[in-house]
Amino acid sequence: MNIQNKVIVITGAARGLGAAMAKRLAAQGAKLALVDLDADSMADAAAACEGAADVRTYGANVANEDQVVALFNNIVADFGSLDGLVNNAGITRDALLIKYKDGELVSKMSLDQWQMVIDVNLTGVFLCGREAAEHMARLGNGGVIINISSISRAGNVGQSNYSATKSGVEAMAVTWAKELARYGIRTGAVAPGFINTEMVAAMPDSAKEKIAGMVPLRRMGESDEIAQAVQFIFENDYFSGRLIEVDGALRL
Ligand code: CAA
Repeated sequence: MNIQNKVIVITGAARGLGAAMAKRLAAQGAKLALVDLDADSMADAAAACEGAADVRTYGANVANEDQVVALFNNIVADFGSLDGLVNNAGITRDALLIKYKDGELVSKMSLDQWQMVIDVNLTGVFLCGREAAEHMARLGNGGVIINISSISRAGNVGQSNYSATKSGVEAMAVTWAKELARYGIRTGAVAPGFINTEMVAAMPDSAKEKIAGMVPLRRMGESDEIAQAVQFIFENDYFSGRLIEVDGALRL
């Protein structure tokens, strides 16, 4: 796919990886629909989109079915087309499954912590992927859907919830590649390692130091290095249903 003038939706676009993807795809001349919980939070990300053919911002909760249906209807009405989706919106609510010390239960992951992450990271990807696919099939021009997974999909301490979702979105990318090829829709997934974003900055210092010491390339990744992988999936027409790992060779 030639990215120029293609209509691409990026969820979780206000900061971090989503903002970096927006900036990179803008430089290729894309038309961007940036989505986050609050449309106002994307002013900086939109302003950084130099070279874009068009940039619009939309506030929506990806975990809310009515909002997602309305979101994609609005985007297609505004741009008249839909060519790409990056399912990037994601949150963490890290906690150990159980913490048992000196014969006593100290803590456990709450159902709220579990459910909040499942709602945004898994249900949100399902809803946005489904709505995007419906519009793409109806419009008849094919498209590309990319799910942002994580190195944590292999199972990371303190992330029962997050790891389950990031494994799930990889599986959905494979499933959709098989189901949607008949409509000319390709899919892909990207699994970032530990990247310099607010999400990673929020980790406890001890955990960050432990991880940093384990990365063979000896540094955290940069957001644009993930955006580069996203660009590759858009542009390579024989890529579908597979995952690109961008993690400095770290294995959890
Ligand atoms: N690997 C191995 N051991 C770990 C660990 C890790 N990543 N994280 C914590 N532990 C160990 C601690 O060393 C500690 O062991 P000891 O009791 O032997 O000292 C034990 O687990 C308990 O840790 P805490 O005292 O910190 O317990 P807590 O209940 O206060 O917090 C926690 C637990 C929430 C899991 C916290 O340790 C934490 O946030 N860890 C980091 C989790 C993580 O890696 N998150 C990734 C966030 S970035 C992201 O998600 C983006 C992405 O896609 C990669």
